[in-house]
Amino acid sequence: GAHTHVSVLPGEVLVRLFRYLGPDDLCRCSQVCSTWAELVKTGSLWRHLYPVRWARGDYYCGPPSELDQDPDEEWVQNLQEEGRAYQEWDEDADIDESEEAHEDALAMNAVQQEKRLLNGLIQNLLPAVGSSVRTVSLAYSVTVSSKMVRQILSLCPNLKHLDLTQTDITDSAFESWEELGACSSLEHLDLSGCENITDHTLKRLSLAIGDMTIPTCSKNIPDRRAKLLKASPSPVKLLDEHSTCSMGRTRQAFIFKRRPGGRGMGCSPVWVLDPAELADIEDAADWSRRGGVSAQDEEKGSILELQAGGGPCCCRRRKRRSYITDTASSYWQQLYGALGEVQCGHSTCCSSDTAVRTVKGAQCGSQPTGDSAEFRTTCPSEGDYRTDQTGASRALRFLSLSGCYQVTDLGLRCLSQGGGLPLLEHLNLSGCLFITEIGLQELVSVCPTLNYEHFYYCDNINGPHADMASGCQNLQCGFRACCRSGD
Ligand code: FES
Repeated sequence: GAHTHVSVLPGEVLVRLFRYLGPDDLCRCSQVCSTWAELVKTGSLWRHLYPVRWARGDYYCGPPSELDQDPDEEWVQNLQEEGRAYQEWDEDADIDESEEAHEDALAMNAVQQEKRLLNGLIQNLLPAVGSSVRTVSLAYSVTVSSKMVRQILSLCPNLKHLDLTQTDITDSAFESWEELGACSSLEHLDLSGCENITDHTLKRLSLAIGDMTIPTCSKNIPDRRAKLLKASPSPVKLLDEHSTCSMGRTRQAFIFKRRPGGRGMGCSPVWVLDPAELADIEDAADWSRRGGVSAQDEEKGSILELQAGGGPCCCRRRKRRSYITDTASSYWQQLYGALGEVQCGHSTCCSSDTAVRTVKGAQCGSQPTGDSAEFRTTCPSEGDYRTDQTGASRALRFLSLSGCYQVTDLGLRCLSQGGGLPLLEHLNLSGCLFITEIGLQELVSVCPTLNYEHFYYCDNINGPHADMASGCQNLQCGFRACCRSGD
């Protein structure tokens, strides 16, 4: 009849109907009238965000588990072509009628669309629905900047799934995670191919997911957060774009050589380890297989060796790593300085209070207690602690740092602190060229639910569970860091 116009439907019913729509249709609905525009900004309609796909006409908005985990190769290749076109794009160039120019123009369209969409999300949508967002996938984005990621993370404190695969973001993307418990429900973090990422990000991640060793009463995180949000109407932190990457291209060039003529897939160059450096790394691996200690060191190190799974103290070992030149060792010093409070924690090397906390990772026997959510350590000096006493859950189940070649043991140690990663199942450290079996051992000792089939690291490291763990995933990859990519 005449009275059944859609506008008479109550808001709740309209929102129910909106659930059947994709992001494109929701945007159209928001243009109907101001009431609809408000209703479209209902949090439950925007749980899973895939702006890179949406910009290319794929409006999937379901949970990530229903997505094919590995996007198809052609799709990735197209995006990489777009990235190349975007980087080479010259606004003022003369109009070129060739077919190649036409393809580039199409690519540019998609890229510009993506950029507009990201800005729109950050400015118009996330301030309203950010706290309901669970998934943000920016994998293979060619336009996302560290500043954008920073804004997104500030606006979405309840994120569970964050995919930044193959983007150019730097550590500064995670500045908003300096706060304890900033993204404490994070379960899935994919940083595969993010070559600019260093230990700083891992330190911030460890803070973001909370600290299970601090009793709840002394944390007051929700209170602190609520106060912060109240104090400023807009929680978006707009910081200047700057890079905290202390290694940079100079050091990269020092270790790698560009494969002649090789562009790999898309825009990022293929880096091949300099054979001279490779020899040194193999020396170091061999040295570590022998236990890494000389006869006179062996006596002092024996207790640590037993407890840390057969390795010598990381501090001494690091000093002795043969491939570290003067330039590189000052890099290490800088890094140690920058990461300040993270110390090796071994009682023979450090004596500060922070160090004592760190020891837990490497020296305490730890075992799952059957129920994966309940994780005990058997460290006698610390006594028992359980996740439910402290409130923090450190819910991370999936972590990929594949190709983040700058990450070191120090970064892994940051993750071992604060209660370790009690629910971690999947850990990909392929192409992390500076980690050693010491760092791996320490981290694995606080990951009681790790599934070794989903545990990947460099084939040249004689690390924990070597017989069960999967090898390096980047051997055949061609565009992600790997010490053997020249083979
Ligand atoms: Fe060593 Fe790939 S990083 S085998």
